[in-house]
Amino acid sequence: MKNLFVKTYGCQMNVYDSDRMKDSLAPLGYQENPDLQDADMIVINTCHIREKASEKVFSELGRLRKVKQRAAEEQNREVKIVVAGCVAQAEGEEITKRAPWVDIVVGPQTYHRLPDLVAKLDSVQRTHLIDTEFPPEVKFDFLPEQLGKRGPAAFLSVQEGCDKFCSFCVVPYTRGAEFSRSAETVIEEAKKLISNGTRELTLLGQNVNAWHGIGRDSREWGLGRLIYALAELPNLERIRYTTSHPLDMDDELIRAHAEVDKLMPYLHLPVQSGSDNILQAMNRRHTASQYLTIIDRLRSAREDIAMSGDFIVGFPGETDKDFAETLSLIDKVGYASAYSFKYSTRPGTPAAGKIEQVSEEIKSERLTSLQQLLDSQQFAFNKTCENAVFDVLVEQKAGREGQLNARTPYMQSVYFEGPDSLIGKIVQVKVSDARQNSLSADIIHEKEAK
Ligand code: 5AD
Ligand code: SF4
Repeated sequence: MKNLFVKTYGCQMNVYDSDRMKDSLAPLGYQENPDLQDADMIVINTCHIREKASEKVFSELGRLRKVKQRAAEEQNREVKIVVAGCVAQAEGEEITKRAPWVDIVVGPQTYHRLPDLVAKLDSVQRTHLIDTEFPPEVKFDFLPEQLGKRGPAAFLSVQEGCDKFCSFCVVPYTRGAEFSRSAETVIEEAKKLISNGTRELTLLGQNVNAWHGIGRDSREWGLGRLIYALAELPNLERIRYTTSHPLDMDDELIRAHAEVDKLMPYLHLPVQSGSDNILQAMNRRHTASQYLTIIDRLRSAREDIAMSGDFIVGFPGETDKDFAETLSLIDKVGYASAYSFKYSTRPGTPAAGKIEQVSEEIKSERLTSLQQLLDSQQFAFNKTCENAVFDVLVEQKAGREGQLNARTPYMQSVYFEGPDSLIGKIVQVKVSDARQNSLSADIIHEKEAK
């Protein structure tokens, strides 16, 4: 048995990929161990979306060099270091130049080859191996069928890559062109996860609502239809999907929000800016009012749907007026939660070459006022949940003895007293107190699985 240490940065898709890498290394005898000092192999799964995220990789690699040296000097033990994910894809050669102690660099579309790369590294005595091509084969067809243990709430990648080419974004370059897995493989993987105890599935994709495929009725399905099909699976209690693009919110998907009870009333639908000029410069291909219309339609379908979003401040050319329009859009929507970022120049993207860059100082000011508004909306939303009764999925023990941690349908984290035997179950709770980032509650009763 060999010890595997995995550290994951970035989005939920990286979390999913890390799990699949663990699955693919299991037949080689690697088992996950949270103790870094005992590791025989260290995988860091990296994120390239913003400059800060990428920079972390090189400082982390500096620390890992010492771990590798210490194991070699004190225990005569070899530690293999693998860099995976989007920084690996974008900067493969650079990584092995700046950090020659890295053994393997593998991209998001080639990690199914990891076991072969490990074997090759051992047999050909190479200093390092880099595999960051966009391969002709589909990795999902080559990953092991056996899935390791996942939690009560698990991720399932159904779509990858992006053809939208927003002018700030590296994803189309690091993850490649849009690709949808077949309905059949998605449903099979869902069944496996459910038989291992998963009760909630979050369907993942960089552009998840662009998912399409031929269904079992030989017709072309969209994400909405796939959700209807997944909702039929017994013992699956809850379905979510993320991240969506406004242009791909089609009628069937919106109808699913009205008709599928298992589809949770919470949607992450990034808009990035409330200014039409900036949306156009970002190549988002929709206006602020079109986005608001989609939200109106979603709310007509499911009155209580809670909205989440992503925002970028300080995109090149953003004026005070543009920024005010973003604040005004936020006022109109009323978000239950949101993520917001300062624009970060990404090499190779169209916006990187623009001359009208916004100063760091203005970006910081705008981010602060935007986050104040979003925080106040989140707090107000949480407050509306006081005394409400929710079905929640118990995911894990909380930090405090005797406490459990669960998620409400609206993705809020909720804490309450209860026995560990409730982990993985749906229980009904009454919210006693709402804070900025979480809720407290009391159990009313445990629900039977549907
Ligand atoms: N700078 C800042 N934020 C970015 N995002 C993507 N690219 C950039 C960038 N260059 C944000 C967007 C996206 C989220 C995943 O990250 O808001 O929706
Ligand atoms: Fe990036 Fe835009 Fe594609 Fe989202 S839709 S992954 S922001 S290019």
